[in-house]
Amino acid sequence: MIHYYRKGTAPRTFVLFHGTGGTEEDLVSIGNMLDPEAHILSLRGEVNENGMNRFFKRVAEGVFDEEDLKMRAERILQEIERLLTHYGLEETALYSAGYSNGANIIAGMLYLFGDVFQKSILFHPMVPLKSGAALSLDSTEIFIGAGLNDPIVPYDNTTQLMQELSRQGAFVTMKTYEMGHRLTLEEVEDAKAWYSAR
Ligand code: MLT
Repeated sequence: MIHYYRKGTAPRTFVLFHGTGGTEEDLVSIGNMLDPEAHILSLRGEVNENGMNRFFKRVAEGVFDEEDLKMRAERILQEIERLLTHYGLEETALYSAGYSNGANIIAGMLYLFGDVFQKSILFHPMVPLKSGAALSLDSTEIFIGAGLNDPIVPYDNTTQLMQELSRQGAFVTMKTYEMGHRLTLEEVEDAKAWYSAR
């Protein structure tokens, strides 16, 4: 997969996932803010929706092609494992952060594969699969940022996601904002405070 890699100085790797229409460059500055010492591995989604990069196909806005999501989630996890080996990062702690479609593919991986990331930061995510989460998330800590007036992600849907992740044992912190789908500095700063406290 097309990706960006920045070597870090600490035994931690942040895997970053952009939103619809983004690239592997988009979240690099946010990754730097969250943890300037971590290795950064930022991926570009391989689905092309009218020229916009995504991590999985959708039928309509907020309606996902779940078979495609499952197939891509598996492929992305394999790719992450390959890249960790390639860059000699197998022994680092593995964290993830994503915005919108990027947060949704992380949520999909958590539903399908359980404890794959020790910490995940999900900006404006929604429920990725109707079948629900199946595996244990006992060793997973998650920050969710949600907009109360998000026109793309209904607030109730993010609340449902939070509940489903918690039910599998994840330790979830959810913050809500009087705003829409846009990612703000306040939200990134809250994620950093949450992350730094751990
Ligand atoms: C998705 O397709 O993942 C969600 O609708 C959010 C987005 O528009 O990317």
